[in-house]
Amino acid sequence: MKALILAGGSGTRLRPITHTRAKQLVPVANTPILFYGIEAMVAAGVTEIGVIVGDTRDEVMAAVGDGSRFGAQITYIPQDQPLGLAHCVVIAREFLGDHEFVMYLGDNLLEQDLAAFVSAFQAARNSDQPPSAQILLKKVPDPHRFGIATLDEQGNVVALVEKPADPPSDLALVGVYLFDHSIHEAVAAISPSDRGELEITDAIQWLIDQGLRVRCELLSGWWIDTGKLTPLLEANRLLLEKMEPSISGDVDEASVIDGRVRIAAGAVVRNSTIRGPVAIGERTRIIDSFIGPYSAIGADCEVIQSEVEHSVIMESSRIIDIPRLEDSLIGSHAEVTRTEQRPRALRLMVGDHCQIDVE
Ligand code: DAU
Repeated sequence: MKALILAGGSGTRLRPITHTRAKQLVPVANTPILFYGIEAMVAAGVTEIGVIVGDTRDEVMAAVGDGSRFGAQITYIPQDQPLGLAHCVVIAREFLGDHEFVMYLGDNLLEQDLAAFVSAFQAARNSDQPPSAQILLKKVPDPHRFGIATLDEQGNVVALVEKPADPPSDLALVGVYLFDHSIHEAVAAISPSDRGELEITDAIQWLIDQGLRVRCELLSGWWIDTGKLTPLLEANRLLLEKMEPSISGDVDEASVIDGRVRIAAGAVVRNSTIRGPVAIGERTRIIDSFIGPYSAIGADCEVIQSEVEHSVIMESSRIIDIPRLEDSLIGSHAEVTRTEQRPRALRLMVGDHCQIDVE
């Protein structure tokens, strides 16, 4: 079994952050989203991983490396343009050979571990009616945003459609798929959709139309497509709730640490209250501040005389004298300060290297 992780494409919905960084590298609970996918693969015993990279390839390759830190061997597969999920399978043909593989969308986060999903496919492959593909479905309130499946009364997948205006069901395709070699014939047989992409939903529909079996499972735990601010903050919340607390940094006696809190080595907390779940990165300084639940503050940041809650602050940013920052995503090397006293809460999405001075 091999894996194909998709980390190309463009992240229009998280701009300005994704003007300067790959959306799959935005940190959630202080770890890039993509790392959770790679770790889940390795935990499921799949270590030969191809990673599709696009415009942000240098950044992704620098962050992930050769995969040895995850116990994986990574092969990078460059994609010149984001021509669709099925196009990723086309260009990965040589890497994939005729192996079965897991395809994983690098901006998706799942609570459920992949091992059970992978072994269910392997068990089904040894049955009388081996499936050619396996998909994972989850009921969603906004089906027009996803690939949508229709099942028959026996629970078999009979039709798939990508982002339908008039959704036939509320069962969305989660970004984890299992395939055997027949998908290569399928991706070669389909044509680009109206939005100009080779859709994986069309390729799976082609398998169904050929009379091949597509197995499906319903996902029980949470699943988040992190491409927008609200789901990203939600993913941050869910992962912070599961994080192992640990205090390695230097916390003075005037400070209060309450609940599930992780303070990395080299971090300094002075005269502040940190109410978990909260993650504080390496060498970050929290001075005379309150850090409230569901905040993840990256490495080398400074938060001084400020209140932060339910926010992601990326590395090397500074929050100075801000009475309240909430529901915000702050890029790296950004600075949020104020010159006048205004007791208002701020909700911000701030790109890397920006300076915001609240007047
Ligand atoms: O999140 C689940 C949904 O993902 C499914 O329900 C849909 O059926 C599926 O098409 C997909 O929809 P999205 O619109 O969310 O896909 P997105 O363009 O965000 O791409 C998903 C990941 O794949 C993302 O990490 C970028 C990467 N990608 C995307 C394209 C189109 C590539 O690496 N290359 C590409 O050409």
